[in-house]
Amino acid sequence: MSRQAVLERLANSTPLIAPSMLKCDFGNLQREIELLESGGAHVLHLDVMDGHFVPNLTYGPVVIERLRELTDLPFEAHLMISDPARYADDYLKAGCNLLTFHLEAVPEPRPLIERIRGKGAAAGLAINPKTPVESLESLLDAPDLVLVMSVEPGFGGQKFMPTALDKLRWLKSRLPRETFLSVDGGIEHETIARTAEAGANVFVVGSAIFDRSSSEGGDYGRAIQELTEQARTHLAPL
Ligand code: DX5
Ligand code: ZN
Repeated sequence: MSRQAVLERLANSTPLIAPSMLKCDFGNLQREIELLESGGAHVLHLDVMDGHFVPNLTYGPVVIERLRELTDLPFEAHLMISDPARYADDYLKAGCNLLTFHLEAVPEPRPLIERIRGKGAAAGLAINPKTPVESLESLLDAPDLVLVMSVEPGFGGQKFMPTALDKLRWLKSRLPRETFLSVDGGIEHETIARTAEAGANVFVVGSAIFDRSSSEGGDYGRAIQELTEQARTHLAPL
């Protein structure tokens, strides 16, 4: 899939719920992907951690390569790693369509964004809760997606930090219209409404999909649909 095709596919599906493959059942990834795909997911968010940039470890290109055989859904790799420039090609070869890396890891991100695009993929730039949003001021034209972390990266299931809302509003009023604005961490029924109002249109969701109890209606598809509906109701005007 070309970069343009991926971006069009995502644009046609906003508001977009991006299930975070951090809290899924790693013992049965094939089944998890089937459930997400039949449940209406349009993209999968793959949380890559190196135990250095964040105090946790997940999976790398070898696992993603096998996931790639299971679905045509676009893959976003969220690279929570200290040296994304060194490993970017491996994630692209494994079949990722969008690579989102951190400004804290790459303070001069333009060359890496260009390199990712040169290989036919889309590029996202993420900022941590402690990073001021103004550090993106001179970079607003560069990425295809900006991701605002609303928890400290590293673990699912944390509480949403409302400081993300001002960052989203700041970005929404400055980013080019076509740039996706994403939020990641603690997104559920209530916080999706607030972040949608603040300008986000791509919502990374872990716990609120994978930890739903059967008493809440259970299945992933229903969670994705309810969150999408809630986001749509609260979406900020273009
Ligand atoms: C955290 C990851 C998130 C996380 C989201 O470092 O980037 O994608 O899995 O999980 P929840 O929705 O549980 O906060
Ligand atoms: Zn993530």
